[in-house]
Amino acid sequence: MSAPTDHRDLLTWVRQVADLTRPDRVVWCDGSDEEYRRLTDELVGTGTLVRLNPEHRPASFWACTDPTDVARVEERTFICSADEADAGPTNNWVAPDEMKRAMTELYRGAMRGRAMYVIPFCMGPLDAEDPKFGVEITDSAYVVASMRIMTRMGGAVLAAMGTDAQYVRALHSVGMPLEPGEADVPWPCSRTKYISHFPESLEIWSYGSGYGGNSLLGKKCYALRIASVLARDEGWLAEHMLIIKVTSPAGQVRHIAGAFPSACGKTNLAMLDPVLPGWKVETIGDDIAWMRFGPDGRLYAVNPEFGLFGVAPGTDWTTNANAMRTLARGNAIFTNVARTDDGDVWWEGMGEPPAHLTSWTGEPWMPSAGEPSSHPNSRFCVPIGQCPTLAAEYDDPRGVPIDAILFGGRRRTTVPLVAEARDWTHGVYLGATLSSETTAAAAGAVGVVRRDPMAMLPFIGYHAGDYLNHWISLGKSAPDTVLPKIFYVNWFRRDDDGGFLWPGFGENIRVLKWIIERLDGRGAAVESPIGLVPPASAIDLSGLSLPPGALEAALAVDPDEWRAELPLITEWFERFGGKLPAALWAELDALKARLG
Ligand code: GTP
Ligand code: MN
Ligand code: MN
Repeated sequence: MSAPTDHRDLLTWVRQVADLTRPDRVVWCDGSDEEYRRLTDELVGTGTLVRLNPEHRPASFWACTDPTDVARVEERTFICSADEADAGPTNNWVAPDEMKRAMTELYRGAMRGRAMYVIPFCMGPLDAEDPKFGVEITDSAYVVASMRIMTRMGGAVLAAMGTDAQYVRALHSVGMPLEPGEADVPWPCSRTKYISHFPESLEIWSYGSGYGGNSLLGKKCYALRIASVLARDEGWLAEHMLIIKVTSPAGQVRHIAGAFPSACGKTNLAMLDPVLPGWKVETIGDDIAWMRFGPDGRLYAVNPEFGLFGVAPGTDWTTNANAMRTLARGNAIFTNVARTDDGDVWWEGMGEPPAHLTSWTGEPWMPSAGEPSSHPNSRFCVPIGQCPTLAAEYDDPRGVPIDAILFGGRRRTTVPLVAEARDWTHGVYLGATLSSETTAAAAGAVGVVRRDPMAMLPFIGYHAGDYLNHWISLGKSAPDTVLPKIFYVNWFRRDDDGGFLWPGFGENIRVLKWIIERLDGRGAAVESPIGLVPPASAIDLSGLSLPPGALEAALAVDPDEWRAELPLITEWFERFGGKLPAALWAELDALKARLG
């Protein structure tokens, strides 16, 4: 097939990759419906996808990964900056030339027996002033189909790139060449995995995994790791944040961004169905926010993505009805969930399980099975345009002005339901010390408390100390009255029996209401050592009955628990050596003094 572009550099790179990886053919993706149909038909043919019953799930598919390829692999993720010091203490580092040497040998002949797809894509609206282009080369049709949902891609992007636009080169292979006559497997992948980033040359090299976070390279790899480096250099922020538009019963509009670690509630808050009458929440983004200062000095956020790649378990009509409505419109790919006998999907959290299912491993499953039917990190992938609560501003390349930033994590104890930072620097401190219990979204142990600055620990493409400095210094570019106010939230605090103290989900509007009152200079708050906390009476509980004392317990700041955090925070800060902003040490000292 002749190449549909005159972009010289792109043509050269595509030829070089094909010479190295030796695919059977090169396919330039145009993003058309016809192409999507052809690819998904092929994937059904190879057994990667199973077509779901169109009565339940129109134009939707079910995929099961290899059981070893189910999550992001942080151990195998590398920031290959020229200087090791630039990767910092929180990233794995290998010198770029050494990594490229090793990976070149892996890529040699890696696409034999397969098609090599070229996917031009754009993160954010194509009509942005400075559109952020990328091209992903992959030997996985599953990746092409998923990239079509998750990014703006295809012919229009290639045309917009012209002959010389700058773009991120994103190379992906599942690392499983086929010998002549060798049959493919439903989920090709390799034991050897590398997710490598070369921030100076704007390149991503991914090998061996087909799982979304490792293979849909526009998402975490570009829009967070590479973009965070661009953002540092260009004075903006690339963050792991949801974006919502909240309208009060009086018609006042506020925009809120929120950073919670993986599987800690961003997609759910992004589609919140408010229980308080008259309130409206609209979705702009559920995972990534790119934020720049506008001409008026305010911080404006854009969602660079085009789809939702959400955690399936726990998603249901009672918890996230808007996600269910989005999925009901079809055009979804479900990965590692269970399938019902009549061709629908099912996962834990959907109420009573049917008597019989096919589990995510492809085995028959019954409710008596000791194990969940769906992998805890199973995902749905669906166009964001289908979301019934999508805000009209979603497509606006200027973005929306952010009034408040939430930092949150998953903590059984210690961290109150909500607290307000005293100012920007204190807010950056709260973000820098954000902690959360680990989840199934990344390979490794689950439930271990770790520090996760701004929920970006796995996604900062450079030295985390420099990243915190960047946050501090951005705060100096505008007065505190113009900057978003920062809040810390925790929907996950437990009672003595292990139950959640706060009902969460649609009820979280009650917390947002208090936050918005605070933005307006209303809403009661009391000083605590860790920030301003609402008295229980300041949270609107109309229509909700909580067990006596539950809200007070959810809001409590226990000095003993916080004193126990101090050595952990100190140890965390010490990891950054001289790179930790002095202002953050000062915040820690002030907290110590307040705790006595
Ligand atoms: P990534 O997409 O991996 O970045 O995660 P995310 O932050 O979007 O997490 P998501 O919204 O998908 O939530 C993950 C899990 O947290 C699901 O099992 C939800 O049911 C649960 N969850 C979300 N919000 C709440 C809440 O307010 N309260 C409680 N108890 N659980 C919640
Ligand atoms: Mn995420
Ligand atoms: Mn999500």
